[in-house]
Amino acid sequence: MDYCKADIESILLTSGQISERLDELAHDISRDYNDKNPLVICILKGSVVFYGDLIRRLNCPIEMDFISVSSYGLSDRSSGAVKIKKDTDNCIAGRHVLIVEDIVDSGITISSLLELLKKRDPLSLKLVSLLDKPARRERDVSPDYTGFIIPDGFIVGYGLDYAERYRNLPYLGILSPAVYMKNK
Ligand code: PRP
Repeated sequence: MDYCKADIESILLTSGQISERLDELAHDISRDYNDKNPLVICILKGSVVFYGDLIRRLNCPIEMDFISVSSYGLSDRSSGAVKIKKDTDNCIAGRHVLIVEDIVDSGITISSLLELLKKRDPLSLKLVSLLDKPARRERDVSPDYTGFIIPDGFIVGYGLDYAERYRNLPYLGILSPAVYMKNK
């Protein structure tokens, strides 16, 4: 994957490291949801790659669903309200629900979404996040299952983007500051 090599300062996690950790996560999730037929909800778009790799490792029945939420604009950042752009197809009341997120950064997106979904009376509601960046946390939220705790830095690849680019990199990399500084 050479087309953007110059834009990546360093590789944070190789596809091999991600794959090994996903085996462990899938083992734990399969054990916990063995007979629960959970609705496994992917938050578009960043989580798509993680979601696809994770669900193929789950050794229990599941159902798939997708949700898309708006990023908060600068003006409503403090309120933390997210708007649903595309809702789930399934009703979540009375279901075991597992939310799949790529990264919990400030925690504003996921805490707002969890609050909203709780009001719909799921039987249980849990979160798996591939990445957790606690250094930037602004809300008291932590995933029930975490892939990796990572340091601060602009991470791209494996679904994560900068200006919609780099999502298709098979690894997680730290974006060179030169890339985003030139757009400031
Ligand atoms: C990213 C990421 C999380 C959220 C994390 O989504 O996928 O949903 O930001 O940030 P937070 O913890 O500070 O709220 P984004 O809005 O960039 O959309 P995308 O998934 O389509 O890239």
